[in-house]
Amino acid sequence: MAEPAIKNDVTRVGVSLGARVEGINLAAGYSEYTIRELRDLMLEHHLLVLPDQHLSALELEAFGREWGDLLTHPATKHRDTPYVQFIGGRARMFKFTVGVHPFGGGWHSDMTWHATPPHITGLHAQQLPAMGGDTAFANQHLAYETLDDATKEEIADLKAFHTGKVFGPDVEDSIHPVVRTHNESGRKALYVNGNFTKYICDMPDDDSEKLLFKLFAHATRPEFTYRHRWEINDLVLWDNRSVMHYAIGDYNELRTMHRIVVKGDVPV
Ligand code: SIN
Repeated sequence: MAEPAIKNDVTRVGVSLGARVEGINLAAGYSEYTIRELRDLMLEHHLLVLPDQHLSALELEAFGREWGDLLTHPATKHRDTPYVQFIGGRARMFKFTVGVHPFGGGWHSDMTWHATPPHITGLHAQQLPAMGGDTAFANQHLAYETLDDATKEEIADLKAFHTGKVFGPDVEDSIHPVVRTHNESGRKALYVNGNFTKYICDMPDDDSEKLLFKLFAHATRPEFTYRHRWEINDLVLWDNRSVMHYAIGDYNELRTMHRIVVKGDVPV
């Protein structure tokens, strides 16, 4: 008998991106068919909320492997496996400043300093403050598509330098296109971020700074965003080729998350 389509249990959560998928219990097992449907939904919505997922770190890792090879992170790992990041924060109230951001704070796409940055991230909520600790997401296809034609032309062939040195002196740096084309949907997206992108290549410093400032401001316009208010055991998956995100630092209690990052391709 054919499996029921999960598409019937899907509701959009934001105008610009995101869908909530009910009726899935990953701890009870999942088929190739379910994974295929989730992949299709991801291409359509760029972010999926799967509520009420009771998964250990190792089960989260196993689910992540259904999406591809997993990456580790130089700054954090779970005690049971290096392929799950343990992200714990406390006393983050208003702590963000550019360049000295707490983990996850500041607008970014994950690990853009990596040669093959993750295409998918999964974040699983473990402990949450009574209030605050939301994560904001911004659709970078919309950001690109709403630029004026002159800017689109100006940035068409530019490349930018991304550094991972905030996580340690030996962490790699990479150069990626300012506009990347999604390798599955073919849609273009802006691909620069305030956390890791340091300059536009082959451009005078002042011009690079001005252009990046303009692109960062545009990329994070509220019109392109969805803000997720977490519940314990929410598993949120997103496509880093399509969205940036920002862990909002407005809490003092403990907030802990488990995270997986799925290796992507070289951005083009
Ligand atoms: C991240 O940047 O991947 C973490 C986001 C969060 O903790 O909300």
